[in-house]
Amino acid sequence: MMKMQELREHYRFTDEDAQLLKSLEPLAIENQENFSLAFYDYLYGLPETAAILNHNNRERLREMHSNWFISLFSGIYDNHYMNHLTRIGHAHVKVGLNVHFVNAAMNQIRQFLLNLIDNNYSDREHRRVLREAVEKILDMNLDVMSTSYREEEMKKVFLSRAVDTFLIKATERFTHGLNLVLVLALAVVSIAIVAMFGWDMVHVFRGDVEKGVFTALGSLLILWMMIELLDNEIKNLKGGRFSILVFIGVVIVAIIREILISTLRHDDLYKQAFLAATLLILGIVYYLVSLVQRDQPKI
Ligand code: HEM
Repeated sequence: MMKMQELREHYRFTDEDAQLLKSLEPLAIENQENFSLAFYDYLYGLPETAAILNHNNRERLREMHSNWFISLFSGIYDNHYMNHLTRIGHAHVKVGLNVHFVNAAMNQIRQFLLNLIDNNYSDREHRRVLREAVEKILDMNLDVMSTSYREEEMKKVFLSRAVDTFLIKATERFTHGLNLVLVLALAVVSIAIVAMFGWDMVHVFRGDVEKGVFTALGSLLILWMMIELLDNEIKNLKGGRFSILVFIGVVIVAIIREILISTLRHDDLYKQAFLAATLLILGIVYYLVSLVQRDQPKI
């Protein structure tokens, strides 16, 4: 593991930087509450981080994060400080936080601190050196935190690194292949539906206008859903989010088509009631799933 001395050398962090940070301590303490508010405002604003916060003790977390904020300005950056930073990465892995959010959060913290300096120091040169010291300590923090993060994550090995990576890659490729097959199959089915629509139109010309029009309408509905489905699957292949809603939509449309045909065939009431009940249940499921999806982030 890297020693604090090395880290300081790599970032050209000097004793003057340490003193400059120490000189910011009173301002930091004065703004500790503001920091906490801004930080949690940010974290509660993102669904992924909000979910993690809700699983943890709020007060304890606030204390941890605002203590960390103040410790940036303690003026003492030794191996003990380094151990503290190493622990943070581990703590975040443990709660299942993606390191991406640590980086993003650090960006917000940086802006908060740079603003604080800009608003409280009038001398340009002094502001510049303060800014540099703050940038260094934040980057050093991020460096150690993300290194320990990676170390902690690397511990999660099943067989060996190489075998694990191979298995993951192979499975990814396999799923990609399956998805391609699915897209092709969907395209073939779409063509079959176009043929079905053509067949329905034949009915219209043969004189069975009512039956022809209704079933053709049903086929068109299904074709429309197939387009959605294909579109969705292609988005998924390109790395987008898969929407289960479209699948439910397809089933709903298929049932509507069945109801149209069933009415024409004058099926018995029992069958028609069964179809109507199924449609109602699917409608409710569709509504519930759409509620859940609306709350999810669109990554
Ligand atoms: C630059 C960004 C961040 C810094 C500097 C930071 C700092 C810290 C520190 C110092 C601790 C205490 C670690 C310990 O001593 O055990 C901690 C814990 C924790 N942090 Fe952060 N944090 C950051 C970002 C985040 C983000 C984005 C989240 C998202 C929700 C988060 C959630 C947590 C949680 C849940 C814990 C408690 C872990 C436990 O129960 O041990 N942190 N963080």
